Amino acid sequence: MEINVQAGDISAFAADAVVVNLFEGVTAPGGATGAVDRAMGGAISSLIAAGDVRGKLGEFALIHTLGKIAAPRVVVAGLGKSGEFSVDKVRALSADLARFLRRGRLKHAAVITHGAGIAGLDAEACAQAIAEGTLLGLYRFLRHRKEEEENGGELERLTIVEYDAAKLPALERGVERGRVLAEAANLCRDLANEPANYLTPAELARQAEKLAQEAGLECEVHGPEWMREKGMGALLGVAAGSVQEPRFIVLRYRGAGEAKPIGLVGKGITFDSGGISIKPAEGMGEMKGDMSGGASVIAAMGAIARLRPAVNVIGVVPATENMPSGSATRPGDVLRTMAGKTIEVINTDAEGRLILADGLAYAKDEGAAAIVDVATLTGAISVTLGNVAMGAMGNDAALMERVKQAAATAGEKVWELPLWDEYKEQIKSEVADMKNTGGRGAGSITAAMLLREFVGDTPWVHLDIAGVDFYDREKGVIVKGASGIPVRTLVNLVLQSAGTAAAK
Ligand code: BES
Ligand code: MN
Ligand code: ZN
Repeated sequence: MEINVQAGDISAFAADAVVVNLFEGVTAPGGATGAVDRAMGGAISSLIAAGDVRGKLGEFALIHTLGKIAAPRVVVAGLGKSGEFSVDKVRALSADLARFLRRGRLKHAAVITHGAGIAGLDAEACAQAIAEGTLLGLYRFLRHRKEEEENGGELERLTIVEYDAAKLPALERGVERGRVLAEAANLCRDLANEPANYLTPAELARQAEKLAQEAGLECEVHGPEWMREKGMGALLGVAAGSVQEPRFIVLRYRGAGEAKPIGLVGKGITFDSGGISIKPAEGMGEMKGDMSGGASVIAAMGAIARLRPAVNVIGVVPATENMPSGSATRPGDVLRTMAGKTIEVINTDAEGRLILADGLAYAKDEGAAAIVDVATLTGAISVTLGNVAMGAMGNDAALMERVKQAAATAGEKVWELPLWDEYKEQIKSEVADMKNTGGRGAGSITAAMLLREFVGDTPWVHLDIAGVDFYDREKGVIVKGASGIPVRTLVNLVLQSAGTAAAK
Protein backbone atom coordinates (compact mmCIF):
# COMPACT_ATOMS: atom_id res chain seq x y z
CA MET A 1 0.00 0.00 0.00
CA GLU A 2 1.13 3.49 -0.85
CA ILE A 3 1.11 6.32 1.69
CA ASN A 4 2.17 9.71 0.38
CA VAL A 5 2.20 13.33 1.47
CA GLN A 6 0.98 16.21 -0.66
CA ALA A 7 0.62 19.96 -0.21
CA GLY A 8 -2.80 21.41 -0.84
CA ASP A 9 -6.33 22.06 0.30
CA ILE A 10 -8.16 18.85 1.24
CA SER A 11 -11.54 20.38 0.41
CA ALA A 12 -10.47 20.51 -3.24
CA PHE A 13 -8.70 17.14 -3.28
CA ALA A 14 -9.86 14.35 -5.59
CA ALA A 15 -9.96 10.89 -3.99
CA ASP A 16 -12.64 8.26 -3.27
CA ALA A 17 -13.02 9.94 0.11
CA VAL A 18 -11.49 12.86 1.97
CA VAL A 19 -11.24 12.44 5.72
CA VAL A 20 -11.54 15.36 8.10
CA ASN A 21 -12.08 15.26 11.85
CA LEU A 22 -14.04 16.60 14.76
CA PHE A 23 -13.57 16.80 18.51
CA GLU A 24 -16.52 15.91 20.70
CA GLY A 25 -18.66 18.91 21.57
CA VAL A 26 -17.50 21.13 18.69
CA THR A 27 -20.50 22.69 16.92
CA ALA A 28 -18.73 24.99 14.47
CA PRO A 29 -15.79 23.11 12.97
CA GLY A 30 -12.66 25.05 12.02
CA GLY A 31 -9.50 24.29 10.04
CA ALA A 32 -9.75 21.73 7.26
CA THR A 33 -13.06 20.41 8.59
CA GLY A 34 -14.44 23.95 8.47
CA ALA A 35 -13.17 24.42 4.92
CA VAL A 36 -14.89 21.22 3.77
CA ASP A 37 -18.03 22.21 5.66
CA ARG A 38 -18.14 25.58 3.88
CA ALA A 39 -17.50 23.99 0.48
CA MET A 40 -20.42 21.66 1.20
CA GLY A 41 -22.77 24.48 2.12
CA GLY A 42 -22.69 23.72 5.83
CA ALA A 43 -23.50 20.00 5.51
CA ILE A 44 -21.21 18.98 8.37
CA SER A 45 -22.40 21.63 10.82
CA SER A 46 -26.01 20.80 10.12
CA LEU A 47 -25.32 17.10 10.75
CA ILE A 48 -23.68 18.13 14.04
CA ALA A 49 -26.71 20.26 14.90
CA ALA A 50 -29.00 17.32 14.14
CA GLY A 51 -26.94 15.12 16.45
CA ASP A 52 -25.89 12.75 13.67
CA VAL A 53 -22.20 13.65 13.86
CA ARG A 54 -20.90 13.90 17.42
CA GLY A 55 -17.12 13.59 17.19
CA LYS A 56 -17.00 10.59 19.52
CA LEU A 57 -13.70 8.74 19.40
CA GLY A 58 -13.85 5.89 16.89
CA GLU A 59 -16.99 7.21 15.17
CA PHE A 60 -16.82 7.70 11.40
CA ALA A 61 -19.57 9.55 9.59
CA LEU A 62 -19.75 9.01 5.83
CA ILE A 63 -21.29 11.88 3.88
CA HIS A 64 -21.98 11.90 0.14
CA THR A 65 -20.86 15.17 -1.39
CA LEU A 66 -23.18 15.10 -4.44
CA GLY A 67 -20.73 17.02 -6.59
CA LYS A 68 -20.17 19.89 -4.16
CA ILE A 69 -16.46 19.08 -3.86
CA ALA A 70 -14.03 17.05 -5.97
CA ALA A 71 -14.25 13.92 -3.79
CA PRO A 72 -17.53 11.96 -3.87
CA ARG A 73 -17.39 11.26 -0.11
CA VAL A 74 -16.36 13.01 3.08
CA VAL A 75 -15.63 11.02 6.21
CA VAL A 76 -15.75 12.89 9.51
CA ALA A 77 -13.58 11.03 11.98
CA GLY A 78 -14.45 11.52 15.64
CA LEU A 79 -11.43 12.42 17.78
CA GLY A 80 -13.16 12.26 21.17
CA LYS A 81 -12.44 14.76 23.93
CA SER A 82 -9.83 17.33 22.93
CA GLY A 83 -8.08 17.18 26.33
CA GLU A 84 -7.50 13.44 25.97
CA PHE A 85 -6.11 13.42 22.46
CA SER A 86 -2.64 11.96 21.84
CA VAL A 87 -0.35 10.42 19.24
CA ASP A 88 -1.51 6.99 20.50
CA LYS A 89 -5.06 7.96 19.61
CA VAL A 90 -3.95 9.08 16.12
CA ARG A 91 -2.36 5.66 15.61
CA ALA A 92 -5.40 3.70 16.81
CA LEU A 93 -7.83 5.93 14.97
CA SER A 94 -5.88 5.56 11.73
CA ALA A 95 -6.09 1.78 12.06
CA ASP A 96 -9.85 1.85 12.67
CA LEU A 97 -10.29 4.36 9.84
CA ALA A 98 -8.32 2.24 7.37
CA ARG A 99 -10.55 -0.76 8.06
CA PHE A 100 -13.65 1.48 7.76
CA LEU A 101 -12.46 2.67 4.34
CA ARG A 102 -11.65 -0.88 3.25
CA ARG A 103 -15.11 -2.11 4.30
CA GLY A 104 -16.50 0.64 2.06
CA ARG A 105 -14.44 -0.78 -0.82
CA LEU A 106 -12.63 2.55 -1.24
CA LYS A 107 -9.26 2.50 -2.97
CA HIS A 108 -7.85 5.98 -2.40
CA ALA A 109 -8.45 8.24 0.56
CA ALA A 110 -7.01 11.58 1.61
CA VAL A 111 -6.56 12.56 5.26
CA ILE A 112 -5.28 15.52 7.21
CA THR A 113 -2.71 15.12 9.98
CA HIS A 114 -5.27 14.57 12.73
CA GLY A 115 -4.06 16.29 15.83
CA ALA A 116 -1.13 18.23 14.40
CA GLY A 117 -2.94 21.46 13.62
CA ILE A 118 -5.90 21.15 15.90
CA ALA A 119 -4.39 19.61 19.07
CA GLY A 120 -0.84 20.92 18.76
CA LEU A 121 0.77 17.48 18.54
CA ASP A 122 4.11 17.14 16.75
CA ALA A 123 3.41 16.94 13.01
CA GLU A 124 6.13 14.39 12.26
CA ALA A 125 4.90 12.15 15.09
CA CYS A 126 1.33 12.42 13.80
CA ALA A 127 2.36 11.49 10.27
CA GLN A 128 4.28 8.52 11.68
CA ALA A 129 1.24 7.46 13.71
CA ILE A 130 -1.02 7.72 10.65
CA ALA A 131 1.27 5.53 8.52
CA GLU A 132 1.94 3.11 11.36
CA GLY A 133 -1.71 2.80 12.36
CA THR A 134 -2.95 2.43 8.79
CA LEU A 135 -0.51 -0.36 7.88
CA LEU A 136 -0.96 -2.16 11.20
CA GLY A 137 -4.73 -1.88 11.05
CA LEU A 138 -5.07 -3.24 7.52
CA TYR A 139 -2.96 -6.33 8.19
CA ARG A 140 -4.55 -9.68 7.39
CA PHE A 141 -3.04 -13.13 7.23
CA LEU A 142 -4.42 -14.50 3.96
CA ARG A 143 -1.64 -16.81 2.79
CA HIS A 144 -3.71 -19.92 3.15
CA ARG A 145 -7.06 -18.52 2.01
CA LYS A 146 -8.32 -18.12 -1.50
CA GLU A 147 -11.76 -16.57 -1.05
CA GLU A 148 -12.40 -13.58 -3.26
CA GLU A 149 -14.31 -11.57 -0.62
CA GLU A 150 -11.32 -11.62 1.70
CA ASN A 151 -8.67 -11.05 -0.91
CA GLY A 152 -10.52 -8.41 -2.90
CA GLY A 153 -10.95 -4.81 -1.85
CA GLU A 154 -7.76 -3.36 -0.45
CA LEU A 155 -7.24 0.29 0.34
CA GLU A 156 -4.48 1.07 -2.14
CA ARG A 157 -3.45 4.63 -1.41
CA LEU A 158 -3.64 7.09 1.46
CA THR A 159 -2.59 10.68 0.88
CA ILE A 160 -1.85 12.98 3.78
CA VAL A 161 -2.85 16.42 2.54
CA GLU A 162 -1.09 19.28 4.32
CA TYR A 163 -1.98 22.92 3.83
CA ASP A 164 1.43 24.19 4.99
CA ALA A 165 3.98 23.04 2.36
CA ALA A 166 6.87 23.80 4.73
CA LYS A 167 5.81 20.83 6.87
CA LEU A 168 6.16 18.30 4.05
CA PRO A 169 9.73 17.09 4.76
CA ALA A 170 8.88 16.40 8.42
CA LEU A 171 5.70 14.60 7.44
CA GLU A 172 7.58 12.50 4.91
CA ARG A 173 10.15 11.49 7.54
CA GLY A 174 7.32 10.50 9.87
CA VAL A 175 5.56 8.45 7.20
CA GLU A 176 8.79 6.65 6.33
CA ARG A 177 9.55 5.72 9.95
CA GLY A 178 5.94 4.65 10.52
CA ARG A 179 6.10 2.45 7.45
CA VAL A 180 9.32 0.74 8.53
CA LEU A 181 7.97 0.09 12.05
CA ALA A 182 4.60 -1.20 10.86
CA GLU A 183 6.07 -3.39 8.15
CA ALA A 184 8.41 -4.92 10.73
CA ALA A 185 5.51 -5.64 13.10
CA ASN A 186 3.59 -7.13 10.17
CA LEU A 187 6.53 -9.38 9.30
CA CYS A 188 6.53 -10.59 12.90
CA ARG A 189 2.78 -11.23 12.55
CA ASP A 190 3.30 -13.22 9.35
CA LEU A 191 5.89 -15.43 11.04
CA ALA A 192 3.85 -15.92 14.20
CA ASN A 193 0.62 -16.66 12.31
CA GLU A 194 2.31 -19.19 10.05
CA PRO A 195 1.38 -22.74 11.08
CA ALA A 196 4.13 -24.89 12.52
CA ASN A 197 4.03 -27.36 9.62
CA TYR A 198 5.24 -24.51 7.39
CA LEU A 199 7.29 -22.54 9.88
CA THR A 200 9.77 -25.10 11.17
CA PRO A 201 13.00 -23.99 12.89
CA ALA A 202 14.84 -24.37 9.56
CA GLU A 203 12.21 -22.27 7.80
CA LEU A 204 12.39 -19.57 10.48
CA ALA A 205 16.14 -19.47 9.88
CA ARG A 206 15.59 -19.20 6.11
CA GLN A 207 13.23 -16.28 6.69
CA ALA A 208 15.88 -14.60 8.83
CA GLU A 209 18.49 -15.13 6.10
CA LYS A 210 16.17 -13.70 3.47
CA LEU A 211 15.48 -10.62 5.59
CA ALA A 212 19.19 -10.20 6.28
CA GLN A 213 19.89 -10.17 2.53
CA GLU A 214 17.14 -7.66 1.81
CA ALA A 215 17.85 -5.31 4.70
CA GLY A 216 21.63 -5.60 4.86
CA LEU A 217 22.32 -7.59 8.03
CA GLU A 218 24.93 -10.22 8.78
CA CYS A 219 23.29 -13.57 9.45
CA GLU A 220 24.63 -16.86 10.79
CA VAL A 221 22.52 -19.97 11.16
CA HIS A 222 23.81 -22.91 13.19
CA GLY A 223 22.55 -26.49 13.49
CA PRO A 224 22.71 -29.16 16.19
CA GLU A 225 26.37 -30.04 15.57
CA TRP A 226 27.45 -26.48 16.38
CA MET A 227 25.16 -26.48 19.43
CA ARG A 228 26.90 -29.62 20.70
CA GLU A 229 30.30 -27.98 20.24
CA LYS A 230 29.08 -24.95 22.18
CA GLY A 231 27.67 -27.18 24.92
CA MET A 232 24.12 -25.88 24.50
CA GLY A 233 22.61 -28.81 26.36
CA ALA A 234 19.46 -26.96 27.37
CA LEU A 235 18.50 -26.03 23.80
CA LEU A 236 19.42 -29.52 22.59
CA GLY A 237 17.43 -31.02 25.45
CA VAL A 238 14.28 -29.25 24.29
CA ALA A 239 14.96 -30.19 20.65
CA ALA A 240 15.54 -33.86 21.53
CA GLY A 241 11.91 -34.90 21.04
CA SER A 242 11.42 -33.41 17.59
CA VAL A 243 12.24 -34.70 14.13
CA GLN A 244 12.72 -31.06 13.12
CA GLU A 245 16.32 -30.00 13.61
CA PRO A 246 16.88 -26.96 15.85
CA ARG A 247 18.50 -23.79 14.56
CA PHE A 248 20.46 -21.08 16.32
CA ILE A 249 19.94 -17.82 14.44
CA VAL A 250 22.27 -14.84 14.87
CA LEU A 251 21.68 -11.49 13.13
CA ARG A 252 24.17 -8.65 13.37
CA TYR A 253 23.64 -4.99 12.64
CA ARG A 254 26.71 -2.72 12.68
CA GLY A 255 26.11 0.98 12.93
CA ALA A 256 28.83 1.95 15.41
CA GLY A 257 32.18 0.34 14.58
CA GLU A 258 33.55 -1.73 17.43
CA ALA A 259 31.11 -0.62 20.14
CA LYS A 260 29.57 -3.34 22.30
CA PRO A 261 26.22 -4.38 20.85
CA ILE A 262 22.75 -4.28 22.34
CA GLY A 263 21.61 -7.92 22.51
CA LEU A 264 18.07 -8.87 21.54
CA VAL A 265 17.21 -12.48 22.34
CA GLY A 266 13.92 -14.10 21.33
CA LYS A 267 12.25 -17.40 22.20
CA GLY A 268 11.85 -19.39 18.99
CA ILE A 269 9.66 -22.39 19.86
CA THR A 270 7.99 -23.05 16.50
CA PHE A 271 5.50 -25.33 18.23
CA ASP A 272 5.04 -26.00 21.93
CA SER A 273 3.15 -29.23 22.55
CA GLY A 274 4.51 -29.23 26.09
CA GLY A 275 6.69 -32.25 25.31
CA ILE A 276 6.31 -35.27 27.63
CA SER A 277 4.46 -32.95 30.06
CA ILE A 278 1.99 -32.57 27.21
CA LYS A 279 -0.51 -29.72 27.11
CA PRO A 280 -4.29 -30.25 27.01
CA ALA A 281 -5.72 -30.44 23.46
CA GLU A 282 -7.88 -27.34 23.90
CA GLY A 283 -6.13 -24.33 22.43
CA MET A 284 -2.90 -26.19 21.75
CA GLY A 285 -2.89 -24.88 18.18
CA GLU A 286 -2.14 -21.42 19.50
CA MET A 287 1.28 -22.73 20.40
CA LYS A 288 2.29 -22.28 16.75
CA GLY A 289 2.88 -18.73 17.95
CA ASP A 290 5.36 -19.72 20.64
CA MET A 291 8.13 -18.29 18.45
CA SER A 292 6.67 -14.79 18.43
CA GLY A 293 9.43 -13.52 20.72
CA GLY A 294 12.00 -14.78 18.23
CA ALA A 295 9.99 -13.38 15.32
CA SER A 296 9.85 -9.99 17.04
CA VAL A 297 13.64 -9.98 17.35
CA ILE A 298 14.13 -10.94 13.69
CA ALA A 299 11.61 -8.35 12.49
CA ALA A 300 13.07 -5.63 14.73
CA MET A 301 16.56 -6.32 13.33
CA GLY A 302 15.20 -5.74 9.82
CA ALA A 303 13.69 -2.39 10.82
CA ILE A 304 16.91 -1.38 12.58
CA ALA A 305 18.92 -2.12 9.44
CA ARG A 306 16.54 0.05 7.43
CA LEU A 307 16.63 2.97 9.88
CA ARG A 308 20.43 2.79 10.34
CA PRO A 309 20.93 4.13 13.90
CA ALA A 310 24.52 4.62 15.10
CA VAL A 311 24.63 1.59 17.38
CA ASN A 312 25.55 -2.09 17.13
CA VAL A 313 22.88 -4.72 17.68
CA ILE A 314 22.98 -8.50 17.82
CA GLY A 315 19.80 -10.53 17.46
CA VAL A 316 19.81 -14.08 18.83
CA VAL A 317 17.04 -16.64 18.29
CA PRO A 318 17.32 -20.22 19.53
CA ALA A 319 14.69 -22.09 17.51
CA THR A 320 13.24 -25.54 18.04
CA GLU A 321 10.00 -27.46 18.44
CA ASN A 322 8.97 -28.87 21.81
CA MET A 323 7.58 -32.34 21.07
CA PRO A 324 7.01 -35.61 22.92
CA SER A 325 8.65 -38.76 21.55
CA GLY A 326 10.85 -41.66 22.55
CA SER A 327 13.89 -39.42 22.28
CA ALA A 328 12.35 -36.50 24.17
CA THR A 329 13.71 -35.07 27.40
CA ARG A 330 11.83 -36.48 30.41
CA PRO A 331 10.73 -34.85 33.64
CA GLY A 332 13.56 -35.55 36.09
CA ASP A 333 16.29 -35.24 33.46
CA VAL A 334 19.19 -32.87 34.13
CA LEU A 335 20.47 -30.64 31.31
CA ARG A 336 23.85 -28.94 31.19
CA THR A 337 23.73 -25.42 29.75
CA MET A 338 26.38 -23.66 27.68
CA ALA A 339 27.19 -21.54 30.74
CA GLY A 340 28.01 -24.77 32.64
CA LYS A 341 25.10 -24.48 35.06
CA THR A 342 22.79 -27.48 35.29
CA ILE A 343 18.99 -27.47 35.26
CA GLU A 344 16.68 -30.19 36.52
CA VAL A 345 13.68 -30.51 34.22
CA ILE A 346 10.62 -30.77 36.45
CA ASN A 347 8.17 -30.03 33.64
CA THR A 348 9.11 -30.30 29.96
CA ASP A 349 6.49 -27.63 29.20
CA ALA A 350 8.70 -25.03 30.89
CA GLU A 351 10.94 -25.17 27.81
CA GLY A 352 11.24 -21.50 26.93
CA ARG A 353 13.53 -20.71 29.85
CA LEU A 354 15.71 -23.68 28.85
CA ILE A 355 16.41 -22.50 25.32
CA LEU A 356 16.76 -18.91 26.54
CA ALA A 357 19.36 -20.00 29.11
CA ASP A 358 21.62 -20.89 26.16
CA GLY A 359 20.49 -17.93 24.05
CA LEU A 360 21.19 -15.43 26.83
CA ALA A 361 24.57 -16.98 27.66
CA TYR A 362 25.53 -16.67 24.00
CA ALA A 363 24.54 -12.97 23.88
CA LYS A 364 26.45 -12.33 27.09
CA ASP A 365 29.56 -14.09 25.72
CA GLU A 366 29.30 -11.96 22.58
CA GLY A 367 29.95 -8.99 24.84
CA ALA A 368 26.50 -7.43 24.77
CA ALA A 369 26.37 -4.12 26.65
CA ALA A 370 22.73 -4.74 27.49
CA ILE A 371 20.32 -7.57 26.76
CA VAL A 372 16.58 -7.57 26.21
CA ASP A 373 14.89 -10.91 25.80
CA VAL A 374 11.37 -11.45 24.49
CA ALA A 375 9.38 -14.60 25.12
CA THR A 376 5.90 -16.09 25.31
CA LEU A 377 7.21 -17.55 28.52
CA THR A 378 4.39 -18.12 31.00
CA GLY A 379 0.64 -18.51 31.03
CA ALA A 380 0.90 -16.88 34.46
CA ILE A 381 1.65 -13.48 32.93
CA SER A 382 -1.84 -13.32 31.46
CA VAL A 383 -3.27 -14.20 34.87
CA THR A 384 -1.34 -11.22 36.25
CA LEU A 385 -1.76 -8.65 33.48
CA GLY A 386 -4.44 -10.06 31.16
CA ASN A 387 -3.95 -9.22 27.51
CA VAL A 388 -3.35 -5.54 28.25
CA ALA A 389 0.36 -5.38 29.05
CA MET A 390 3.52 -7.40 28.74
CA GLY A 391 5.44 -8.17 31.91
CA ALA A 392 8.94 -6.74 32.33
CA MET A 393 11.53 -8.04 34.76
CA GLY A 394 15.21 -7.22 34.97
CA ASN A 395 18.38 -6.53 36.91
CA ASP A 396 19.07 -2.92 35.93
CA ALA A 397 16.84 0.06 36.72
CA ALA A 398 18.29 2.31 34.01
CA LEU A 399 17.75 -0.23 31.22
CA MET A 400 14.25 -0.93 32.57
CA GLU A 401 13.49 2.77 32.36
CA ARG A 402 14.65 2.88 28.73
CA VAL A 403 12.48 -0.11 27.86
CA LYS A 404 9.46 1.53 29.49
CA GLN A 405 10.14 4.73 27.55
CA ALA A 406 10.49 2.84 24.26
CA ALA A 407 7.24 0.97 24.91
CA ALA A 408 5.40 4.19 25.77
CA THR A 409 6.56 5.71 22.48
CA ALA A 410 5.25 2.65 20.64
CA GLY A 411 1.95 2.65 22.53
CA GLU A 412 2.71 -0.88 23.76
CA LYS A 413 2.08 -1.36 27.48
CA VAL A 414 4.63 -2.87 29.87
CA TRP A 415 4.36 -3.43 33.59
CA GLU A 416 7.32 -4.26 35.79
CA LEU A 417 7.33 -7.18 38.21
CA PRO A 418 9.98 -7.58 40.92
CA LEU A 419 12.84 -10.07 40.92
CA TRP A 420 13.45 -10.20 44.67
CA ASP A 421 16.02 -12.68 45.95
CA GLU A 422 13.32 -14.39 48.02
CA TYR A 423 11.92 -15.91 44.83
CA LYS A 424 15.18 -17.77 44.18
CA GLU A 425 14.20 -20.32 46.86
CA GLN A 426 11.47 -21.56 44.54
CA ILE A 427 13.83 -22.74 41.81
CA LYS A 428 16.37 -24.52 44.07
CA SER A 429 16.94 -28.14 43.10
CA GLU A 430 18.26 -31.10 45.09
CA VAL A 431 20.03 -32.63 42.11
CA ALA A 432 21.07 -29.69 39.90
CA ASP A 433 21.98 -26.00 40.15
CA MET A 434 18.34 -25.05 39.64
CA LYS A 435 15.05 -26.50 38.46
CA ASN A 436 12.91 -25.31 35.60
CA THR A 437 9.67 -24.67 37.48
CA GLY A 438 9.05 -22.75 40.67
CA GLY A 439 5.77 -24.14 41.97
CA ARG A 440 2.42 -22.40 42.13
CA GLY A 441 3.23 -18.86 43.17
CA ALA A 442 4.66 -16.05 41.02
CA GLY A 443 5.13 -18.22 37.92
CA SER A 444 6.29 -15.41 35.64
CA ILE A 445 8.81 -14.20 38.20
CA THR A 446 10.32 -17.60 38.95
CA ALA A 447 10.74 -18.15 35.19
CA ALA A 448 12.63 -14.86 34.98
CA MET A 449 14.70 -15.78 38.06
CA LEU A 450 16.05 -18.71 36.09
CA LEU A 451 16.88 -16.49 33.11
CA ARG A 452 18.71 -14.09 35.42
CA GLU A 453 21.21 -16.83 36.22
CA PHE A 454 22.48 -16.64 32.63
CA VAL A 455 23.10 -12.94 32.06
CA GLY A 456 25.65 -12.40 34.84
CA ASP A 457 26.23 -8.68 35.43
CA THR A 458 25.04 -7.62 31.99
CA PRO A 459 22.14 -5.14 32.28
CA TRP A 460 19.10 -7.15 31.23
CA VAL A 461 15.35 -6.89 30.83
CA HIS A 462 13.06 -9.83 30.16
CA LEU A 463 9.73 -9.21 28.41
CA ASP A 464 7.07 -11.88 28.94
CA ILE A 465 4.63 -11.40 26.05
CA ALA A 466 2.49 -14.52 26.55
CA GLY A 467 -0.61 -12.36 27.27
CA VAL A 468 -0.26 -9.96 24.36
CA ASP A 469 1.11 -11.90 21.39
CA PHE A 470 -2.25 -13.19 20.08
CA TYR A 471 -5.71 -11.59 20.01
CA ASP A 472 -9.12 -12.91 18.99
CA ARG A 473 -10.59 -9.47 18.30
CA GLU A 474 -9.58 -6.31 16.45
CA LYS A 475 -9.31 -2.89 18.01
CA GLY A 476 -7.08 -0.03 16.87
CA VAL A 477 -3.71 -1.39 15.78
CA ILE A 478 -4.62 -4.85 17.15
CA VAL A 479 -6.01 -7.31 14.61
CA LYS A 480 -7.07 -10.93 14.97
CA GLY A 481 -4.13 -13.32 15.35
CA ALA A 482 -0.55 -12.34 16.06
CA SER A 483 -0.08 -8.79 17.37
CA GLY A 484 3.52 -8.04 16.39
CA ILE A 485 4.17 -6.91 19.96
CA PRO A 486 6.86 -5.81 20.96
CA VAL A 487 8.63 -5.17 17.63
CA ARG A 488 8.08 -1.41 17.73
CA THR A 489 9.21 -1.23 21.36
CA LEU A 490 12.45 -3.02 20.48
CA VAL A 491 13.16 -0.76 17.51
CA ASN A 492 12.39 2.37 19.54
CA LEU A 493 14.73 1.16 22.28
CA VAL A 494 17.57 0.81 19.81
CA LEU A 495 16.81 4.16 18.12
CA GLN A 496 16.67 5.90 21.49
CA SER A 497 19.92 4.25 22.56
CA ALA A 498 21.60 5.70 19.49
CA GLY A 499 20.24 9.13 20.23
CA THR A 500 18.27 9.12 16.98
CA ALA A 501 15.13 9.58 19.03
CA ALA A 502 12.03 8.08 17.50
CA ALA A 503 9.15 10.47 17.21
CA LYS A 504 7.58 11.06 20.60
N1 BES B 1 4.61 -21.24 25.75
C1 BES B 1 4.12 -21.48 27.06
C2 BES B 1 3.51 -20.25 27.70
C3 BES B 1 2.24 -19.75 27.08
C4 BES B 1 1.03 -20.13 27.61
C5 BES B 1 2.27 -18.86 26.04
C6 BES B 1 -0.14 -19.64 27.05
C7 BES B 1 1.10 -18.36 25.47
C8 BES B 1 -0.11 -18.76 25.99
C9 BES B 1 5.27 -21.95 27.95
O1 BES B 1 6.25 -22.69 27.33
C10 BES B 1 4.67 -22.82 29.00
O2 BES B 1 4.15 -23.84 28.65
N2 BES B 1 4.75 -22.40 30.25
C11 BES B 1 4.21 -23.14 31.31
C12 BES B 1 5.21 -23.14 32.44
C13 BES B 1 4.86 -24.09 33.56
C14 BES B 1 4.95 -25.51 33.09
C15 BES B 1 5.80 -23.84 34.70
C16 BES B 1 2.92 -22.47 31.75
O3 BES B 1 2.83 -21.25 31.73
O4 BES B 1 1.97 -23.19 32.06
MN1 MN C 1 5.74 -24.74 27.24
ZN1 ZN D 1 6.46 -22.37 25.32
